[in-house]
Amino acid sequence: MPTYRAPRGTRDLLPETRAGFSRLEGIARSLALRYGYREMEIPLFEQAAVFERGIGEATDVVEKELFRIAPRTEDSESWALRPEATAGIVRAYVQHGMQALPPPVKLSVVGPMFRYDRPQAGRYRQFWQWSAEAIGDPGPAVDAEVVEMGLRFYKEAGLPDVQVLLNSIGDAACRPAYLETLKTYFSGHEAQLPALDRRRLDTNPLRLLDSKDPAMTALIASAPKMIDRLCEACAAHFTSVRVHLDALGVSYRLEPTLVRGLDYYARTAYEFYRQGAEGQQQALGGGGRYDGLVELLGGRPTPAIGFALGLDRVVLALAETGATVSHEASPLAVIVGADPADTVSRLRVASLLRSEGLSVRAELAPRKLGRQLETASKEQAHFAVIIGDELADGHVQLKDLKAGTQHLVPLADLARDLARAEKTHHHG
Ligand code: HAM
Repeated sequence: MPTYRAPRGTRDLLPETRAGFSRLEGIARSLALRYGYREMEIPLFEQAAVFERGIGEATDVVEKELFRIAPRTEDSESWALRPEATAGIVRAYVQHGMQALPPPVKLSVVGPMFRYDRPQAGRYRQFWQWSAEAIGDPGPAVDAEVVEMGLRFYKEAGLPDVQVLLNSIGDAACRPAYLETLKTYFSGHEAQLPALDRRRLDTNPLRLLDSKDPAMTALIASAPKMIDRLCEACAAHFTSVRVHLDALGVSYRLEPTLVRGLDYYARTAYEFYRQGAEGQQQALGGGGRYDGLVELLGGRPTPAIGFALGLDRVVLALAETGATVSHEASPLAVIVGADPADTVSRLRVASLLRSEGLSVRAELAPRKLGRQLETASKEQAHFAVIIGDELADGHVQLKDLKAGTQHLVPLADLARDLARAEKTHHHG
């Protein structure tokens, strides 16, 4: 057993896995560009109040899972690691006066988030999200556009069977009355409620609909649904979101018990699941409209919608399908030498080629030429550049390890010849 290990619930992304994440980040960045979201960064930690107020005190994310940073002195600020990006993005939006920009302000953040949850497969204490937020557009068209962008991400990542579950959870006009109805309904069955859900009855009754306790399944199924009690404005909004989704050819499943784990949502709420995995806790991503959050964090009332897609779970799902998550590149060429001790020449030629943008490795171990060439073949390099006596008049041997051919090349032409060959190296 090693003395030190990565903290429970965190993972080292070893190069092979990191390459898989990089590929997903690349797709996220490409989609952000195509849909007009501009990438930005926010700190990995914020004043804890940003999350407490923004996400809600009575949510699991804040109540149980917030990674708080112990203050260093009595009067120092109370900070917490970000459990998600939306609250921080909105804090930045307000702080930097982005309300003066023409709406919607579309922002994208890719990076690690932290939740002190019980670790299990697909649930980590440090995980990666792509978060996209369209701030300043009341919808409903943008709601459909965001959902479509999420689905396109999964399709381009290699998961074509991802499905959207869709709901509307009403707004400040119609939800309070619904919450009362819901409370009355569950209170009538209080004896049947598991302890956790009984407590939630007062703090966050909507969350009861998301209870995974088997004792709750039947109760939830016959509970009153928000979707049947939307006010006129919310109902019209939801109908129009659906019209836009239909027009885009996006199929979705209405899920009247879908509620989200964060308090800032209003109206449109949705989650992404792999087909057949809808009943499970492990959403691949989720999001919704949060029309009250900007105001809650000190800005002018501003409607907004967004999503966060969990990259870890996509990598896991891809591994399950047996897809090759990434291809690791082999070097185009390895620089070897007839004189094992002459590492100076090998390093200098490598440096020259790297300055031309080529990906090469210099053999720095003082081994016999034969052994150097063996290693180069093993690591699937396309070429070996062999340095010998010819270097004295500016030449090296270029050996094509795949074809088994070899010829003399002036050092001055080497980068150009290799660059030409590189085009076929990756695709050939
Ligand atoms: P969320 O549903 O809390 O939403 O998280 C979004 C996604 O992040 C989840 O569907 C899941 O894939 C991934 N995720 C969450 N927790 C973990 C974990 N412990 N381990 C691995 N993956 C995890 C939000 O975070 C909102 N900010 C989404 C949003 C953006 N709403 C509006 N804009």
